[in-house]
Amino acid sequence: MKTIIELISEEVKQSFAKFGYDEKYGMVTLSNRPDLCQYQCNGALAAAKQYKTAPINIAQPVVESLKSNSIFKEVTVIMPGFINITLSDEFLANYLNEMKKSEKFGCENENNPRTIIIDYGGPNIAKPLHVGHMRSAVIGESLKRILRFFGNKVIGDAHLGDWGTQMGLVIAELKRRKPELVYFNEDYTGDYPKEAPFTISELEEIYPAASEYSKSNPEFREEAKQITYLLQNGHRGYTAIWNHMLEVSVTDLMKIYETLNVSFDLWKKESDAQPYIPEMIQYFKDNNYARISEGALVVDVKEDTDTKEIPPCMILKSDGATLYNTTDLATIVERMKLFSPDQIIYITDKRQELYFETVFRCAKKTKLVKEDTKLNFIGFGTMNGKDGKPFKTREGGVMRLENLIKNVNDEVYRKIMENRSMTEEEAVQVAKKVGLAALKYGDLSNQVSKDYIFDVDRFTAFEGDTGPYILYTIVRIKSILAKYAELKKGLPSQSIILAAGSESERALMLELTKFNEMIATAYTEMAPHRICSYIYDLANAFNSFYHDNKIISEEDEEKQASWITLITLVQEQLLTCIDLLGFDAPERM
Ligand code: ARG
Repeated sequence: MKTIIELISEEVKQSFAKFGYDEKYGMVTLSNRPDLCQYQCNGALAAAKQYKTAPINIAQPVVESLKSNSIFKEVTVIMPGFINITLSDEFLANYLNEMKKSEKFGCENENNPRTIIIDYGGPNIAKPLHVGHMRSAVIGESLKRILRFFGNKVIGDAHLGDWGTQMGLVIAELKRRKPELVYFNEDYTGDYPKEAPFTISELEEIYPAASEYSKSNPEFREEAKQITYLLQNGHRGYTAIWNHMLEVSVTDLMKIYETLNVSFDLWKKESDAQPYIPEMIQYFKDNNYARISEGALVVDVKEDTDTKEIPPCMILKSDGATLYNTTDLATIVERMKLFSPDQIIYITDKRQELYFETVFRCAKKTKLVKEDTKLNFIGFGTMNGKDGKPFKTREGGVMRLENLIKNVNDEVYRKIMENRSMTEEEAVQVAKKVGLAALKYGDLSNQVSKDYIFDVDRFTAFEGDTGPYILYTIVRIKSILAKYAELKKGLPSQSIILAAGSESERALMLELTKFNEMIATAYTEMAPHRICSYIYDLANAFNSFYHDNKIISEEDEEKQASWITLITLVQEQLLTCIDLLGFDAPERM
């Protein structure tokens, strides 16, 4: 279904063409003076330059010829040649009726759906999740849903960090604390216990302790390195511990992601890519992609057009060890082999931008991917505290994600209990939903690449540009619909939206028509914040309409049925949008 802007532009373009002007000047945009008109076309001003005449000479006949067109209520020309457009109420209503009938409110699937892998979340085993991981998970989840909405095949991969020196550190620390464990007995040949020798909290406490200890103790550091090496080469006891670590961590991670309403299709691990490394390195060497530099193996990725210094991509260190990017390159090999994606999107902190640029160039240059395979990096900004510095706990430490979520939920719970009559049990459940909306909306309403300030009070407010406000609006509509259904023993049999009868109704209808255009923009720009600002406008438009019109007591039944249909459409759009953002609404709040 064409967007409303497309439909209006078509008419205006035709009119420009009719008078011998290039139709491109007939492009229409939303009005920046909504008090004067709904849409505008400024093309006559640009056309005037090309056709060497005054803009008014172009705009005047164009406007005259549009006046008889029934889709417009009013088309006027404003000096020096702006065209102001207001749609007819019948046209608006018809457009909404079409939108309502279409499967996705006028949005169409991609003509050529793509297979897309989204690499997001990026948790590490044995390390607690922090706010950076939250942003990756929240943004990635929303983008995954948006890409899917357009019919693409999207595979979300958590890309678990289970490789590298932190594994050796944790095992070394465990050995220091519990040397008697059977895993450390080199002569032991039997089976290892099924139960892990630690809980998740112990595990998470071990890593920072080990990391701290290693700073002042070179011997311990050496031991950890040795253990990492042995683990990566199949040491039995260490591998058994590592498997315990994986299991304990993943169980815990899945629980937290579930709380966040984030789910991955794949839980691939960095270690899964390791078997691809030797062959990849051989291939780099055989094709002269790689060279030795100071003992290390590197691939040059500089380009003539670079304005900044791009370092070579290091594949092997001089001691033969692999690096984070070796794993990422091998993961690309694995992904191409298993899924042949058309696109891979990585979502991390924007500080990793140069890193990914290097990896992408290397993958392209060495033809690990096809020429037309898209590799994209989406870097997000930092979540700051009210002091404008990266968010910390009151004690100055890194805030665990679980605690952050809990703080938000507690605040919402407090607000619910303050104002409403609800059982404690229900309030807890509702607070979880509303809290998640507060957190996710607070994050996603900002442009992804921007830093933002985490403000519990603001995010959890029931009024203003917040998740709870959106949910509150949805709940309000639900309750109107329920009341109507109860009074009338069902919903209207005729669900047709009639032409608007008041300013606030018209404004609401106009808002609703923007859905397909807005979603398409969110999709092409990969920008969830577009959806947030749309639903905020829509919720505001609905609430003004609601205050101006007494829906339940309206006596004109036809009108009332139309309103019910209209607000049902509002509700459906809002629900679709929050689903794309990754949260849902409670029954009441
Ligand atoms: N585990 C990494 C971290 O905590 C993020 C992984 C991002 N994805 C990737 N393919 N490198 O920073």
